[in-house]
Amino acid sequence: MDQLRVEYLAGYGLEVPDVTLAEAFYTAFGLQADTAAAALQMRTKAPGPAELVIIQGPKKRLHHLSFAIRQQDMAAFSERLKTFRIDTVAPPFGPIRDGLWFQDPWGTWVNLVPVEAKPPVLVAETVLVRTRVDRHLWQELERDIRPNKLGHLLMFTHDYDKSEAFYVNALGLRITDKVPGKVAFLSGGKGIRDHHCFGLIPSTHRGFQHGSFHVDSVDDIGFGALQMRKAGFKDGFGLGRHAIASNLFYYVRDPWGSWVEYYTDMDKISEAWQSREWNGLPYIWPDWAPEFWGKEMNANLEASPST
Ligand SMILES: [Fe+2]
Repeated sequence: MDQLRVEYLAGYGLEVPDVTLAEAFYTAFGLQADTAAAALQMRTKAPGPAELVIIQGPKKRLHHLSFAIRQQDMAAFSERLKTFRIDTVAPPFGPIRDGLWFQDPWGTWVNLVPVEAKPPVLVAETVLVRTRVDRHLWQELERDIRPNKLGHLLMFTHDYDKSEAFYVNALGLRITDKVPGKVAFLSGGKGIRDHHCFGLIPSTHRGFQHGSFHVDSVDDIGFGALQMRKAGFKDGFGLGRHAIASNLFYYVRDPWGSWVEYYTDMDKISEAWQSREWNGLPYIWPDWAPEFWGKEMNANLEASPST
């Protein structure tokens, strides 16, 4: 059986009209600018490539996706892509990330970056009980929130069925849960990992829906929301808990209408996980918010993937 799979979502790129404002927004979110890099690269606490690359452009748009692969799989991925009539090339925008570059059949640039290690093991997720005897927990909480890692990204696609097949068959992503006509969640790698690192949403256009970054606890989500409000980025949605992957969340809107999410406590999957299809998008709390999930979350469609 063919086991060639990308490991996880390593990063993504956004074009924005004001790079300085983007740096202020994502710095307030808790990412840190890598001053050694040519482009603006923002990173979490995790080692490895910077998760977010910000590039100057006329309008906000998704610039690229980056998936982590094992070094020994580089040649095999190049060969696999050739069977889809796709060549890996030097991208026209320069070497902003190491590894292989290609365009998917709809024009989205994709990077496959070799990494040595798996995503960091998040020790805090395994601490289920805190000792609370003779303590003021509130005095001990970390208030300067810096995300641990990038978790996932969801994008709109105007060619949903074929896109899903491409990302599954060419990159080895696996559908972990799906709501036909609304969303597919996909995971990479092997062993125990997050329920999803990538998602596709059918739409009339391509577009960046949201990127999501892991923090340790519900308190970190709360302090994260607070530090964004204090920095002037007050438009948000949450606190809530998703259905499907069960993660706690809070979304903040960036200056161009995209959303970025703090998340924690997501379901994990193993090789034993069975993909499921759901009839309608399940929802738990807070209440269903059509202005958010409909108009707001769909306000980021792009005219064309290649413009
Ligand atoms: Fe999310």
